Amino acid sequence: MNKTIVVLGSIMALAIAAPLLTAQADSDDHNRGIWRGIWQVAKSSAVTDPLTQQECSECHIAYPPRLLSAEAWKGVMGNLSNHFGEDASLDANTRQQIETYLVGNASRSSAPGKLRISEQSWFIHEHQDEVSPRKFAQAKTWSNCQSCHKDAAKGLFDDDD
Ligand code: HEC
Ligand code: HEC
Repeated sequence: MNKTIVVLGSIMALAIAAPLLTAQADSDDHNRGIWRGIWQVAKSSAVTDPLTQQECSECHIAYPPRLLSAEAWKGVMGNLSNHFGEDASLDANTRQQIETYLVGNASRSSAPGKLRISEQSWFIHEHQDEVSPRKFAQAKTWSNCQSCHKDAAKGLFDDDD
């Protein structure tokens, strides 16, 4: 075969293949993004109830129901007029709907009378010796989850990935 034709043929083949290969690489990235998204949703404990999201995210993140026990949520929702020193009162119907959601999705045990997530023994265990004084000073309070967990509002607290 004529050498020129072989060379020209190779150049044409490359010209066609290169964009195709690049497109394939892009779609791999895209797929990784999708898988990562699915994994995060599976791990996430985020609030899925719009009413709770709306009413309980004004002063702090809407805390995931999974992080407290049913008893503790009842305690929190039963005393919104004196909510850790704030008035977080709601009308009776809204309050009841939110309590039903939180209690129905609670899945931790808690010590009697301990209403805070940050007072529970699993929480103390997870945070003991993990936080530098400087980090804590920035957060100011344990209630400020998102100061240390950047995706806390999405229900993600495992910041390793
Ligand atoms: C008007 C502001 C406000 C609203 C609205 C509000 N909270 Fe709070 N919440 C606070 C404050 C202030 C604290 C205590 C923060 C601290 O100690 O630093 C707190 C703390 C909490 C804690 C304990 C966090 C911890 O340290 O473990 C829970 C649980 C909680 N709120 C649930 C709710 C729920 C559920 C709603 C919606 C029904 C709600 N909050 C709405 C102000 C509010
Ligand atoms: C001052 C920083 C800080 C604050 C505030 C904070 N955390 Fe953490 N948290 C950490 C560190 C550091 C770890 C251990 C390393 C890790 O796993 O991310 C941790 C670990 C955790 C874990 C275990 C994660 C895992 O899968 O290993 C959970 C769950 C968690 N925190 C929830 C919370 C919640 C809920 C709040 C708010 C009520 C909160 N944290 C507030 C720093 C903080």
